[in-house]
Amino acid sequence: MFHSQLPIKIAPSILTADFGHLAQVAQAAEQGGADYLHLDVMDGRFVPNLSFGPMVIERIRAATALPLDVHLMIEEPERYLADYAHAGATLITVHAEACRHLHRTVQMIAELGCRCGVALNPATPLEAAREIVPFVDMILVMSVNPGFGAQRFIETSTNKLRRMRHLLDDLNPLCDLEVDGGVDVHNIDDVVRAGANVIVVGSAVYNSRATPGENIAALREAASRARYQEV
Ligand code: DX5
Ligand code: ZN
Repeated sequence: MFHSQLPIKIAPSILTADFGHLAQVAQAAEQGGADYLHLDVMDGRFVPNLSFGPMVIERIRAATALPLDVHLMIEEPERYLADYAHAGATLITVHAEACRHLHRTVQMIAELGCRCGVALNPATPLEAAREIVPFVDMILVMSVNPGFGAQRFIETSTNKLRRMRHLLDDLNPLCDLEVDGGVDVHNIDDVVRAGANVIVVGSAVYNSRATPGENIAALREAASRARYQEV
């Protein structure tokens, strides 16, 4: 399989959804045809916001069959990996900036039986991921500064995705490339053309304009019109 055949996965982030009804929020994504549910964990230290932890994820796990894509925006994530694995995470992503011994952390995630991702903040160069790329299932390129939903897409992220896809093609061609932050129906084609195949969408899925299912369908349609083009 080549990178261009990696399937497009839509991963709704629940961060801007109604936290009073998380089971329904998860089920709406599942019934709306999502591929993953993206769960943003924040500690108030790595990012200037707090969200939720393993107890909430365990309840979401019970409410949906969707694979859970757990994005840890926390310092020293190695201290909590087992908690997130036992809560039902399918995939655990840690930030390169938050890990002193990133390779060890990645190994721990694999030993816990989860798929493993490594995320880079907007100002972190690609090079920070080069040596870990052969050991991971996914690289996450942040297209906003992590911490909040509904922020504006940082335009230079498209070029960063393209360069990251080239790096992955060299070192780990089956590695997924995820993009997170500010993606909507108007720019999803650009990130897909640049090589992203796992697309996080928060406020573009959970909003008052349409149902999650209608939004997911529109996003998938826009994404499928723009498959990866090598340039
Ligand atoms: C930002 C989070 C994102 C965010 C995405 O810290 O990692 O997952 O919730 O939300 P939108 O799509 O609204 O930017
Ligand atoms: Zn996220």
